[in-house]
Amino acid sequence: MHLPGSKSISNRVLLLAGLCAGTTTLHGLLASDDTQVMLDALRALGCTIERSGDSARITGLAGRVAVPQAKLFLGNAGTAMRPLTAALAVLSATQGGEFELSGVARMHERPIGDLVDALRGLGCRIDELGQPGYPPLRVHGGTLDTTRPVRVRGDVSSQFLTALLLALPLAASESAVVVEVEGELISKPYIEITLNLLARFGIVIEREGWQRFTLAPRAAGGGYRSPGEIAVEGDASSASYFIALGAIAASDGRALRIEGVGLDSIQGDIRFVDAARAMGAQVSGGPGWLDVQRGRWPLRAIELDCNHIPDAAMTLAVMALFAEGTTRLTNIASWRVKETDRIAAMAAELRKLGAGVVEGADFIEITPPQTWHAAAISTYDDHRMAMCFSLASLNAITGAGPGLPARILDPRCVGKTFPDYFETLFSVAQADAAAIPVIAVDGPSASGKGTLAAALASALGYHYLDSGALYRAAALAARNAGVADDDRAAIARLAAMLDLRFERGATLLGGRDVTDALREEAVGVLASKISAWPEVRGALVALQLSFRRLPGLVADGRDMGTVVFKDAKLKVFLTASAAERAARRHKQLLAKGISANIESLRADLEARDARDRGRSVAPLEPAQDALLLDNSGLTIEASVEQVLAWWQERCPFR
Ligand code: DC
Repeated sequence: MHLPGSKSISNRVLLLAGLCAGTTTLHGLLASDDTQVMLDALRALGCTIERSGDSARITGLAGRVAVPQAKLFLGNAGTAMRPLTAALAVLSATQGGEFELSGVARMHERPIGDLVDALRGLGCRIDELGQPGYPPLRVHGGTLDTTRPVRVRGDVSSQFLTALLLALPLAASESAVVVEVEGELISKPYIEITLNLLARFGIVIEREGWQRFTLAPRAAGGGYRSPGEIAVEGDASSASYFIALGAIAASDGRALRIEGVGLDSIQGDIRFVDAARAMGAQVSGGPGWLDVQRGRWPLRAIELDCNHIPDAAMTLAVMALFAEGTTRLTNIASWRVKETDRIAAMAAELRKLGAGVVEGADFIEITPPQTWHAAAISTYDDHRMAMCFSLASLNAITGAGPGLPARILDPRCVGKTFPDYFETLFSVAQADAAAIPVIAVDGPSASGKGTLAAALASALGYHYLDSGALYRAAALAARNAGVADDDRAAIARLAAMLDLRFERGATLLGGRDVTDALREEAVGVLASKISAWPEVRGALVALQLSFRRLPGLVADGRDMGTVVFKDAKLKVFLTASAAERAARRHKQLLAKGISANIESLRADLEARDARDRGRSVAPLEPAQDALLLDNSGLTIEASVEQVLAWWQERCPFR
């Protein structure tokens, strides 16, 4: 698998490129919610940014205030809020300007008081617009005094120190500027990333232990110097989920290859590798890649001070479910002030799975379940909760019981750092087809089954199979190839070889967009004809089965529940009175500017129902175990809700 870019590096180099002079090209940039707010903020401040793929060309502000006033919305991105606060406070103190920084509600619960205090000590003027010590903030003017050390607390979040170090080169000074850390500095590896990237931008900082940092006096014309181009490593925290996956599930002697970070990474979370090895993972690596496979099994429980890997340590907590004994993770108080209170969230969700959990102010202890429970995992708008708990779905591997599904609620929260997380996971982890849930939807023509099925798929994040489109595609392929309409063998051969793909709302046949062609009347007539031939139906079965992929499938069409997916966990037969269906079709036609007569539409539908019910091959009939839904008087939303309620009843989640 290939990792997305590192969030920590992306947002640091975005800011540095935005503050320095000239143009910097960033490669391998992470595209996610957190980097998007940083990009938007830099644009609002006057930077020029051109995107292309995962690269960005940024022309920076050369340390000048280009836009004297701005209101910046920074979502829930600590890596944007803290450094931008520092940079704008210093800029406005030296050059004037007034800037407001705000975020989502949770951002306004994440502390920033220690940074505000440090910046005030330096002479910046900052107003807290909500609660003291928390965003939203306004920074406006002041007078810098760099003759005294800037003092900042280091034991709540290392981002405060990072923010100062990134911003202080803006405080042009005749003498050296000193930063002193109060309290034990946490998450030191993140400071190493900051120092490393500052050095790439020409800023050398001397450090004495982790207590004192000295910026040399700014040489004339100095300050940040763009490196011209800079490549962003893959995200080492994101790698942790795949390292864990390899340690748990790569058991057939083949390693899972992870591309984007190697053992030489500048990111502190690469040290997760050591922790994973301690639990039993076999990891090897080179520049930009890691190979991971199962070593010891079951995994070994560990006791570990996780201060150096606070984010990746969450992955250890889930690996602990697969270990022998009790795992104890300590020195993780910072978990409580992250995207959510991660100690409380982790404890609550691990317990749902059946694990024994003891939590304290700054530690967590996990004993694996004796009996696993299927669980719906709440994610608290925290990307890492969603990603690490996806590993709970591997529970069948323990052999402790039958495989139980895990449901991840609000999975799109992974967009914060890894928008394609689940797609990537499913590209390297397969399930037995029989274990992949299927919902089959059928019903007479114009019952609205296609609309319902597509809406269900979207609500559940499942794949969607419009099986009628396959018959239409076979018909279209036959016409394109000039095959005679009654050449059953030739059409069945074409059907078996269909090169059909559904991409972003379009249907591609042999690489060509055929979305509109499939809806043509003549294609529909031929589709109806060939769909009554057993050899064509048989030829399409393999293709239909191939749509059964993680995390699930909603399949719509004639024999989905009776033939193709007989074992579907839920089968819905949608009906509506002929009068209602005729009225709907009438409305659709009118909307397209086609005039029609309701009575004759109704007669056509009734005749078609009779034909479909009476045909010997794949007749229109509900599967025996189908639930009937008459949606004559229901809105689409109400129908979707009803089916989702049925689905919930069939799922084992508490
Ligand atoms: O739903 P539709 O109009 O796109 O379907 C095209 C034709 O294929 C239609 O005549 C019904 C038929 N069909 C079928 O026989 N079996 C399916 N599973 C889906 C559609």
